[in-house]
Amino acid sequence: MKKIIIYPGSFDPVTYGHLDIIERGLKICEQLIVAVSSNPLKRTLFSIEERVILLKEVTKKMKNVQVEKFDGLLVDFLKRKEARIVIRGLRAVSDFEYEFQMVLANRRLNESMETIFMMPSESYFYLSSSLIKELVALGADISGYAPKFVENELKRKIPYAQS
Ligand code: COA
Repeated sequence: MKKIIIYPGSFDPVTYGHLDIIERGLKICEQLIVAVSSNPLKRTLFSIEERVILLKEVTKKMKNVQVEKFDGLLVDFLKRKEARIVIRGLRAVSDFEYEFQMVLANRRLNESMETIFMMPSESYFYLSSSLIKELVALGADISGYAPKFVENELKRKIPYAQS
């Protein structure tokens, strides 16, 4: 059986920080599934379909990467994929508490699930999807933070209103 790893998240939108984690994850598995959460509790700029399109576009040259959306519990998605391992990026210490809580909650739901944390490159340590949305809204250059395709879609969604 193939060693499958699931990388879940909202990806609203995908950034170079996420791609950095995907590339690291590919070193330790045979197939990596990016699982895009449709979490109705999180208000997103891009719809679930748009987030999947963005991810598919920016990972199209990566072998062994698949992008799928999911709703409901992550543990149920893992079950459907016959997977046990999840990867998550751990940027700063501030990520730790939230991630720790998620691991413990998921473990209560499914004892066999394991989470591997990977550190992104230090260039992306303080990067987040909210940050690049804000930068675009303020007319700043985000070329170092997200691929051109994502940048263009962001600019379409958030027109820079110059005062
Ligand atoms: N580089 C850049 N940014 C990163 C990053 C990285 N490597 N890793 C995380 N981030 C940022 C994201 O851009 C996002 O920024 P934002 O808040 O500004 O949008 C933030 O960190 C957190 O996002 P994400 O990693 O997408 O996590 P999330 O909290 O939105 O989603 C799920 C977490 C989807 C894994 C979780 O909610 C889940 O499993 N949902 C399914 C339902 C379920 O099973 N719930 C029970 C879980 S205990």
